[in-house]
Amino acid sequence: MFSTETIAKFSTTPTPFYAYDLALLENTLIACQKQADSYNYHVHYALKANFNERVVKMIQQYGFGVDCVSGNEVTKAIELNFKPHQIVFAGVGKSDKEITEALNKDIFCFNVESLQELEVINQLAGNISKKARIAIRLNPNVDAKTHQYITTGLEENKFGINAWELDHLKEIIQRSSHIELLGIHFHVGSQITDLSVFQNLCYKVNEMQNWFTEQGFHIKILNVGGGLGVNYQEPDNDAIPDFDSYFSLFNRHLQIQSGQEVHFELGRSLVAQCGSLIARVLYTKKGLKKNIVILDAGMTELMRPALYQAYHKIENLSQYQGTTEFVTYDVVGPICESSDTFAKNLSLPVTQRGNLIAIRTAGAYGEVMASRYNLRDTIRHLYVEGDN
Ligand code: LLP
Repeated sequence: MFSTETIAKFSTTPTPFYAYDLALLENTLIACQKQADSYNYHVHYALKANFNERVVKMIQQYGFGVDCVSGNEVTKAIELNFKPHQIVFAGVGKSDKEITEALNKDIFCFNVESLQELEVINQLAGNISKKARIAIRLNPNVDAKTHQYITTGLEENKFGINAWELDHLKEIIQRSSHIELLGIHFHVGSQITDLSVFQNLCYKVNEMQNWFTEQGFHIKILNVGGGLGVNYQEPDNDAIPDFDSYFSLFNRHLQIQSGQEVHFELGRSLVAQCGSLIARVLYTKKGLKKNIVILDAGMTELMRPALYQAYHKIENLSQYQGTTEFVTYDVVGPICESSDTFAKNLSLPVTQRGNLIAIRTAGAYGEVMASRYNLRDTIRHLYVEGDN
């Protein structure tokens, strides 16, 4: 995936760092926009996936809106040139301060996650004589068939309003004069690779929007969230996700009423493949039963393997040409935790101290989830331009 020139550039850069392939990002955005445009769908980029400034600026320049989950993300989105009417604000725990500031910034829409939040938004909007535009996040009880920590659409999860709360919801909406109901919102989980999950979601959306229509509410926006998965096993085979199959599935199964808009909140599928974590081998070690490679990057730089047992493809960039001798290693980081392990029993070309290692598909939920545990340095990044 990386050219010789890029690897040469990596070799002279202090590790660890994130490398972002801007050409791949651009091609991904073009592919997504093309497919979304063909159905007149609107995509809000889920800023939580990556808020690296050049990455986000490119996304903004391609005309995407933005999905924020904190007041600071809303502020950041505005700093990065998104217009208030392009911003949606989601999250189960918005503070009064965050809500009031977002109202003052005149953002497009709050995705409301509970009955109590709805009452609070109405009250806070009333305090400053405003009307809050809202979408109700509904919990459709659809299994995303993904890791339990990134499943959000089941009744047992903390997200959204459940079916049994709808009558109460109706009553609150009817008596709240400082809210304007724009639509309904769903998000069932992340890294969804089985597209039938989205088909099930469509059925639930159809069913639930019927309820709103029957109650006399006008639903202008159907927001179906994000969640499209990427290929972590073989990133180069699917460098650009299959947006065609994804959007066309919604086109086939979602019942759209006239004048209705369909909104998406994609994060991972836009940015995951353009980012890699580049590290260097500090030490190799022969354990009792295993060979161990110790990198200068760890769970502090990329938390996904420790937190979700996530697989990321690991490549030795220094030994990739013509090597025939392979050894099985555990690849670990330097942090004082046994969970600081990137891979177990991984076959790599013979690996030595000083070799450059790429941990692939790290553009989403990588740099943004980095921490300074063990008082680690803040992770750096660089940009690769025109490698594709
Ligand atoms: N909309 C809502 C309401 C969300 O909660 C999320 C992600 C998205 C959209 C974007 O989903 P995406 O298209 O990126 O799948 N840290 C985890 C992922 C957490 C996802 C949280 N919500 C990971 O590294 O896998």
